[in-house]
Amino acid sequence: MLKILVTDDIAKTGVEVLESMPGATVDVRTGLSESELLEAIADAHALVVRSQTTVTDKVIQAARNLRVIGRAGVGVDNIDLESATRHGVLVINAPDGNTIAAAEHTFAMMISLARHIPVANRDLLAGNWNRKRFVGVELRGKTLAILGMGRIGTEVAKRAKVFGMNVIGYDPFLTEERALSLGIVKASLDDAIAEADFITVHTPLTKETHHMIDAARLQTLKRGVRIVNCARGGIIDELALCDALRTEQVAGAAIDVFESEPLREDHPLRSFDNVILTPHLGASTVEAQENVAIQVAEQIVRVLKDEPFDHA
Ligand code: NAD
Ligand code: MLT
Repeated sequence: MLKILVTDDIAKTGVEVLESMPGATVDVRTGLSESELLEAIADAHALVVRSQTTVTDKVIQAARNLRVIGRAGVGVDNIDLESATRHGVLVINAPDGNTIAAAEHTFAMMISLARHIPVANRDLLAGNWNRKRFVGVELRGKTLAILGMGRIGTEVAKRAKVFGMNVIGYDPFLTEERALSLGIVKASLDDAIAEADFITVHTPLTKETHHMIDAARLQTLKRGVRIVNCARGGIIDELALCDALRTEQVAGAAIDVFESEPLREDHPLRSFDNVILTPHLGASTVEAQENVAIQVAEQIVRVLKDEPFDHA
């Protein structure tokens, strides 16, 4: 009997795909401590996670029968890929199931920032009626820099064009032809951000992208820029961003992902009226969760049946 261990919440439809595999048992156990995970993984043949479970070298070493780790989402930065490779364990993800959800969340964040929606809502609920305090800015005619023009960055660009924004894209793999076909301008990182009224990041978190927007770069931006991060915590230096918000170099920020999650209660980002924070909700739509759960479950079943599959 093959054991498939699921340690983060994934959509029921995905679990049903796993359960339909003959000769396999599915064990859904979320919220495990490290020692519970080490025990549960010992005899598992497949592990399915979202972003809460950190799959460390220790976890992979404890898994005597593990053949595949499935990530119900895009980022595999919570999995020790080097250790997985060393132990011959495959890592697969669901690369496009949550693209639209993340692009729409990014846009919701950008509009909410431009029109002060969360803070105006809080103010009204507190009993006030402050129409003058919450004058916003329009997106039309503004310049948006998109750092990372992959699946999500591209969908954000398409939406920004419809809103009448000038879009500049930075991505080492963005060609002039593709930029032209999207109606955007390709630029270097520093040129893209220097021009921007809004900046949104859509790269993975890697050694190269870690603190890509740091204290020095924040000083090169247009005063009053607004910044969105719905990709990964750590691409923007959070503490440098707080400093830039204090000096009003940055007029507002909307952040869905953090250097350490959950965001600690006393984190300085929590103290600004012009900062919108959501708890890693980019992929949290009914549709996206079904898509990623089904995609990853189907791949896991293929791997366990020794059939062809898509690699992460
Ligand atoms: P993708 O692989 O399609 O695109 C990433 C792009 O980043 C690629 O085009 C790549 O060339 C580019 N890139 C890599 N290194 C770069 C660098 N140093 N400078 C500039 N560009 C660089 O991925 P995607 O599906 O668009 O996802 C983007 C990010 O969003 C990932 O970090 C993913 O984990 C994250 N994400 C977050 C949520 C959420 O819940 N908030 C949901 C989905 C995805
Ligand atoms: C992802 O990388 O797909 C996202 O972080 C989505 C998630 O798992 O919440």
